[in-house]
Formats: sequence, structure tokens, C-alpha cells
Amino acid sequence: MSDDLREAAFSAGPLLLRPWCRDDIPALVEAYRDPTMLDRLRDLITDEADAERWLRVQTEGRESGTRFSFAVVDTDLDGRPVGNVALKYPAPGSGSAEVGYWTAARARGRGLAPQAVEALTGWAFTAFADDGLRRLDLLHQVDNHASCRVAVKSGYAFAEILPTRPPWPLDGHRHVREADEGCPGRPSAGGRPVDRSFDRTVVQDPLEQPVIAPLTVDVQIARSHTDHLEAGLGEHPL
Ligand SMILES: CC(C)(COP(=O)(O)OP(=O)(O)OC[C@H]1O[C@@H](n2cnc3c(N)ncnc32)[C@H](O)[C@@H]1OP(=O)(O)O)[C@@H](O)C(=O)NCCC(=O)NCCS
Repeated sequence: MSDDLREAAFSAGPLLLRPWCRDDIPALVEAYRDPTMLDRLRDLITDEADAERWLRVQTEGRESGTRFSFAVVDTDLDGRPVGNVALKYPAPGSGSAEVGYWTAARARGRGLAPQAVEALTGWAFTAFADDGLRRLDLLHQVDNHASCRVAVKSGYAFAEILPTRPPWPLDGHRHVREADEGCPGRPSAGGRPVDRSFDRTVVQDPLEQPVIAPLTVDVQIARSHTDHLEAGLGEHPL
């Protein structure tokens, strides 16, 4: 796996998406105290040892190129992660992958997940374009209305009902977003045409990005602590 991908981090408006690290363990344990997380996710994090194991899985995923998880930090708040977005790419080169996400209970209801998913989507289609990535799937259980709203707000169109599959007791929804697709159902800011230029080097003015509907995502591959500071993104916790 290239260093660029192993260390990929980028910003979208006030959000910084960067690799998880050991300093995040308390935030992880706290986020998973919420019963909704235990209900909706397969991971179980009850203590620091679980969090360590979870971190190891994310690190190994990056090493193998099969999973790219990003801690979502709201730089308007503090350095603590308020969410997670992940690209699950179990068969690199297959043309499709899956996105997953959660937002800590304390940060829900502010459009954070859709904004982070939008950013992840732009990054994924850019980073794996040469690899042939053309489709991203987003799956959720039918009764997870909040997740369904995230899908719609991030431009993932409903595709089909999935039959129940253990450990999930209910049917699911599959939503899909294709590469080079605009963001259906989401207005472009000020009626401007959709701009999907994902620039690896330039961080644009975040004030131009509406919180819920950023159609341009500023992608910065932060290869090192120094690069990160020079890009004006604040202190990188790695
Ligand atoms: C689904 C989830 C990621 C949404 O994250 P978010 O950052 O709150 O996203 P949004 O602010 O866009 O809210 C999405 C929907 O959540 C609901 N919501 C709003 N405020 C909420 C709150 N304080 N608490 C819970 N849900 C809320 C609303 O239905 C909202 O849709 P709307 O904007 O059309 O009203 C979050 O609820 C979560 O982490 N849930 C547990 C894990 C999970 O279900 N992950 C997805 C697995 S498929």
C-alpha cells in the first residue's frame, strides 16, 4: 500500500477526516457507550482493550488496502473525533466498495455524517479511479431511518431491499452512488453547476462550503505532520 493511501487524510469544510490513532481510544470507548451504537453496529467496544483491537483492525485494513477508516474531527469544536466514516473495499479492483459511518451521540443531528460521507465518497472515487472503482454501496437496516436520511442526503440513491441476514433481524436497504454522478436530490449551492473537482493539493475556503450540501470537497492527502500544519489544517494528532 502506498504511503499516500496509508496516511490519507483530508478536510471538508470544518471537518477533518484522518486516520484513527491511539490517542482516540477514550473517545472511541465513550462513543460506544451509546446503546444505539451497540444496536446498529457489529463492533463491540466496551473498554480500552476492545478499542485497541478495533484500532488494530483499522490499521491492518489500511495496510492491506481493504478498509480505510477515518476519524471525523469537527475543527470548530476540539480535536476529539465525533464520528467515523469507512470505505470497506474487501476486493480491491472489483469496481465496487461500501461505505459505513457513525456519529457520536453528542454530535448527532447537525448533518455531520452526510458531510463526512460526501467527503469520503469524493476521496474514494478519486483515490481509486485508476483501480476501476465505479460504484459505492451504502447498506442499512430498514428501521434505521437516520441512516436512510444520511444516504439520501449524501446522494446515495435507493437501489433495492436486501433480505434479512444474520446478525441483522430485519431487511435492509441498499443505496448506491456511481462515480461521476452528481448528488441527486441535493441542490447545488446558489444554483451553480455541480463541481466535482477533487484537488489533492489545494484546500479551498471552507466558508464556501454549505454544511449539509458541499458539492465540492477539498481533498488533502496529508503525508506528514509537517504537511498537515502547512496546509493550515491545525495540529494533526498522529
Ligand atoms: C445514522 C447517524 C450516522 C446519523 O448521523 P448524524 O451526523 O446525526 O446525521 P444527520 O445530522 O444528517 O441526521 C440524520 C438523521 O438523524 C435523525 N436525527 C436528527 N437529530 C438526531 C439526534 N439528535 N439523535 C439521533 N438522530 C437524530 C434525523 O432523522 C436526521 O434526518 P433529517 O436531517 O432528515 O432530520 C447516527 O444517528 C448514528 O451514528 N447512528 C448509530 C450508528 C448507525 O446507525 N450507523 C449507520 C449504520 S448503517
